[in-house]
Formats: sequence, structure tokens, C-alpha cells
Amino acid sequence: MATAKSENYVIDEVIVEDSLVGIYKARHISTNEEVAIKKIKVGRHGEYTDWAEPAAENEMQMLRKLNHPNVIKLLDSFYTSDSKVAVLVFELMLADLGRLIHCTDNRYSHSHIKCMVYMMLSGLEYIHSSGIMHQDIKPGNIMIDSHGIIKIADFGISIYVNDTYRKLHRLPPAWYRSPEFLLGDRQYGTSTDIWSLGVVIGELINRHIVFPSKSEIEQILMIYRLLGSPNDKTWPEVKTFKHFLQFHDESLLNNEETFEKKFPKANEQELILLKSLLVMNPKYRTTAKQALESSYFTTGPSPCKPENIPRLAAPRHRHSRNPFHMNDLNASDENLPSDYSHLNNETKRQLFSP
Ligand SMILES: Nc1ncnc2c1ncn2[C@@H]1O[C@H](COP(=O)(O)OP(=O)(O)OP(=O)(O)O)[C@@H](O)[C@H]1O
Ligand SMILES: [Mg+2]
Repeated sequence: MATAKSENYVIDEVIVEDSLVGIYKARHISTNEEVAIKKIKVGRHGEYTDWAEPAAENEMQMLRKLNHPNVIKLLDSFYTSDSKVAVLVFELMLADLGRLIHCTDNRYSHSHIKCMVYMMLSGLEYIHSSGIMHQDIKPGNIMIDSHGIIKIADFGISIYVNDTYRKLHRLPPAWYRSPEFLLGDRQYGTSTDIWSLGVVIGELINRHIVFPSKSEIEQILMIYRLLGSPNDKTWPEVKTFKHFLQFHDESLLNNEETFEKKFPKANEQELILLKSLLVMNPKYRTTAKQALESSYFTTGPSPCKPENIPRLAAPRHRHSRNPFHMNDLNASDENLPSDYSHLNNETKRQLFSP
């Protein structure tokens, strides 16, 4: 455990705060270095919730091992003397991607987007090559600093790839969950993050949520709409997944949906990239390394420099959290995506109607 104490820092501003987690702009008293402090109320052994302590421990452990320009740097971490609060000290970032996309008028050209995508893929490639799955890739967890450098943050639910004990202490938001995760594949791997990053990149291009579902069933249906329902040929293992859902009723699936229609602002190379990231069967999905070597980066326009990325951030709003986060579920085998096989077609139809 690191030796630094809370008294070394003075808090200047609340960035986001809710009852259990707060992120603050702060300063190291003797060096005057500006930092971000994340305080997680853990108590010990489930005094507040049973997810906060494992999430804090997890984030500290993972981040102490990682060192890459596109991954958030953990400068220090410790518990308050009463052991009730875990304190994580990070380099200070300017904004998260969610705020940049949805709360500002910043315009992103294809070359700005390419520079951002390069940094996101580089960070993710490093995380994966370190044997870690992030599991919570979403705009709110991708940050930009004052020099335009993108950094992946929030390792609260990340796990080691070879860890077969997959107990999540909370679930990632449904909008960014991969099909294999939604369908209940117990063996999913790093390609789950690639899917999530594909959804984030689509959101950056479109400037609206790619699959804005209100339920897990609607989420999977929105994915089927774009990619078709998986079958024995395209994904032989899919039938064995706990929550496999197949739609024979074609009227439910709008087969007119295409990448071109879904991402009208994307140029040809962006579409090729999105089609390689948003692949239904994880086995055929590209890896971060392959994507970095793909034609997207060797075909014009070239990426801008990070310092040229527009990053004027809108004023922060206290407590602006993702509305469909399902944060308060205690994850266990049972609360991996719920089983909807009992729903009849009429209910599914209602859930799916726009
Ligand atoms: N180092 C940082 N510098 C500036 N802002 C930050 C920093 N880290 C986090 N934030 C802000 O705080 C928000 C929440 O941080 P973080 O994702 O680490 O916490 P969380 O409680 O796990 O959030 P969530 O559950 O919403 O994902 C981020 O979306 C970002 O806006
Ligand atoms: Mg987060």
C-alpha cells in the first residue's frame, strides 16, 4: 500500500459526485501539481455495498501495473486512516469523450477522428497485450487531457484474460455490451472490448448513441437489426449460450438496416473500420493490433496532431451519469444478462416497437 496521506492534497472542485464515488479536481500541497482524486466509500467488507471495495482494489491493482501514454496514470493510492474511503490519485484530465461528443459544439473532422481512434486503439492494444480485459469501454471512461492526448480510464471491473472466475461486481452499461456478453457466453475474451470500442467510435462519428436500447432484449435486437440474427453457420457456438435469442420472425428485424444507413456521416474508410470492429462472432472481429495496421490508417486523410483535436469542454454538471448503467446490481452468475427465454413473441414485439 502506498504511504501518502489525504492531507497531502487539497480539493479545489467537484467533478462528479454521488453517494459512493466522488471525483475531484485537487492539488498536491507541496508540489502544487494538479491532480484528479477519486474517492470510493468502501467501508470494509461490504459496509456500504459489496461492490465498492472489490472495485477500488481492482482498479488500484490493475493500474499499478499499466504504464502507457493512452492509459490513465495512477499517481498514488491509499485508504483513509479509518479505512472507510479508498483514495486514488490520477493525472488530471480535461473531459471525457461523452462530454466532448454530447455536451459541446466541437466539430470533429475525419482527421480529428482518426487521431482519436489511433490513440484509443493504442491504449486498448497495450491493455490487451498486458493480459487485461477492460470490460467497461464507454465514452465516460475515455478521457482527453489538456494536450489532446486520449487516455483510457476506470478499471473498476477489468479482469485478467486468463481469469476464469468471472464474477463481476457490477455490470457495464448495456449500450456498449458485446453480443457474446449479452447472450451469456462464459468464455468471452478481449474482443468484447473491441466491440465496445466500435460502438464508441460509431458514437463519435454519428454524435448520437449507436444502440440506445432501454432493455437487454432491445439491445440484442438492435444489434441483430444491423448484423442479422446469428445462426449455425455464422456462429456455431451461439446456441449453447445461456441467453441465446433467435428471431425467426423476420418482420421483427428490419433487414434494410446497413452500416451506410446507420453511420451516414462515416467516410468509406471509417465504414471499413466499423465493419471490422462491429462483427457479431467475436472470432472474426478484428483485434486492436490488426486495426492499428489496417488500411484506415494508411489511406487519407491523415490523422491530425493530438494538440489540434478540438477539446473545449462544456461546464461540468454535478452527477451526470449514464442513465442506463445498472450500477446497483450485485453481479454474480445470476445477474449476468437476465434470461428472457420466457418472454412470448408478443412481449418481445412490444419491447422492440420503436
Ligand atoms: N483523471 C480524471 N480527470 C478528470 N476527470 C476525471 C478523471 N477521472 C474521472 N473523471 C471524470 O469522472 C467521471 C467518473 O470517473 P470514473 O469513470 O473513474 O468513475 P466511476 O464511478 O467508475 O464512473 P462510472 O460508474 O460512471 O463509469 C468520468 O466520466 C470523468 O468525467
Ligand atoms: Mg467510469
